Amino acid sequence: MSRAQILVIDDEPLMGDYVQEALVRAGHEVDVCTNGPAGLECVRRTFYDVLITDLRMEPMDGLEVLRRVREESPGTHCIIMTAYGTVETAVAALKEGAADYVMKPFTPDELEVAVSRVLEHERLTQENRYLRGELNLHYDFESMVGESPAMAAVYDSIRRVADSRATVLIRGESGTGKELVARALHYRSVRRDKPFIKVNCAALSAGLLESELFGHEKGAFTGAHDRKIGRFELAHHGTLLLDEVSEISSELQPKILRVLQEREFERVGGNTSIQVDTRIISTSNRDLEQALADGHFREDLFFRLNVIPIYLPPLRERREDIAALMDYFLKRYTHENGRDIQGFTPAVRQMFAEYQWPGNVRELQNSVERAVVLSRERMLEPEHFSLGMPVPVEKPGSGAVSVPLGTTVAEMEKHLILRTIKHCGGNRTRAAEVLGISVRTLRNKLKEYSEEALDKDTGQGVVP
Ligand SMILES: Nc1ncnc2c1ncn2[C@@H]1O[C@H](COP(=O)(O)OP(=O)(O)OP(=O)(O)O)[C@@H](O)[C@H]1O
Ligand SMILES: [Mg+2]
Repeated sequence: MSRAQILVIDDEPLMGDYVQEALVRAGHEVDVCTNGPAGLECVRRTFYDVLITDLRMEPMDGLEVLRRVREESPGTHCIIMTAYGTVETAVAALKEGAADYVMKPFTPDELEVAVSRVLEHERLTQENRYLRGELNLHYDFESMVGESPAMAAVYDSIRRVADSRATVLIRGESGTGKELVARALHYRSVRRDKPFIKVNCAALSAGLLESELFGHEKGAFTGAHDRKIGRFELAHHGTLLLDEVSEISSELQPKILRVLQEREFERVGGNTSIQVDTRIISTSNRDLEQALADGHFREDLFFRLNVIPIYLPPLRERREDIAALMDYFLKRYTHENGRDIQGFTPAVRQMFAEYQWPGNVRELQNSVERAVVLSRERMLEPEHFSLGMPVPVEKPGSGAVSVPLGTTVAEMEKHLILRTIKHCGGNRTRAAEVLGISVRTLRNKLKEYSEEALDKDTGQGVVP
């Protein structure tokens, strides 16, 4: 079972300590509060997987805490502790949406069982939701737009290699449609009814990525309370997408190579080898040749991954696709938002045709969506767009970050990252910690931002 973020609320400090100690020993992160209002404050600041609360408390009782937490943080699972072990209170709590209850006095084991049960249930629901979501996307695939010669070549590769087992390496700048191509390959192949599983190799630390990919046996390391099935296994008979493959650490590279060569692996801490039939597709938006030359990426692994290369050129190099993409996204977002917008003025068309699109199709898509949502006119005009505008700054003096409606998640992320680094006095390790991402991911983000800045020819790097 994975490590969870847990909040305990109990007005008896000794009880709080007891529960905290039991759960920390089981490998979780635990915060403790001694009353409801303080607990709600924590829930607003941090996301908790699980809340464990006492029932009889002042000034706010457990049922009220439960109700509020369900509202503020619907993803948090609540477990009630009750010393007044009447069935009625427990039933009332379950009716209010508690996931489970434990009766005082309880042993650390009983508590741990309740927590594991809740987390396991959550994991299964997520897996189901994930698999269902993937199935729906299947029907979405015919949505690749663009008739430029470059895109025609891409469609051609997809048609030719979809059904083979050969590994495919999809390269191109961020936002050019690499993931879309990966899905197209899967859903056009004989594997289409089997899982399409994606792993973002840049988002996890080396150790986590290893157990995410290969799974682990119970007791493989501290915190490994249960066996976990890895992504390679989940993708059996299906397709595994290794997103941002250049970020796989040098310790992990030989292990991936082995799966590619021998089609088998062991779970972390296990010694039975597991055979898989998984098609591997990887993507990269970095200069892999440079990583090879620098020795950051193994050549043998690169050749294994790159049996079929597919390259997606940046949008500015296939400007003939811009008009079709504009129309496609306009139709899609007017429909989704129930708007009646007729089209773009010629000035907008010209602006789009000339712009550099450092964020490629994703940036174009976001721009159109934002304009559709914000505009009240029947035609979209240049002032409905703010192409390449810098990310807005926060109100001075406040810790809060304020951004206008219509800001994209990517802009927001960039803003938050830069702000946090500044707040940490330029200490990137600390900033990464605060942001909850790896230093490596942070470094890559910064590199992206400085490249963007150069693209726009502002002449100044954005890295503080
Ligand atoms: N040819 C296209 N037609 C329609 N939509 C596209 C096309 N190319 C990209 N998109 C859309 O643009 C967005 C970005 O595409 P995608 O996520 O595949 O990019 P990516 O290359 O994987 O980017 P990153 O490197 O940042 O992960 C998605 O919403 C995708 O649906
Ligand atoms: Mg991607």
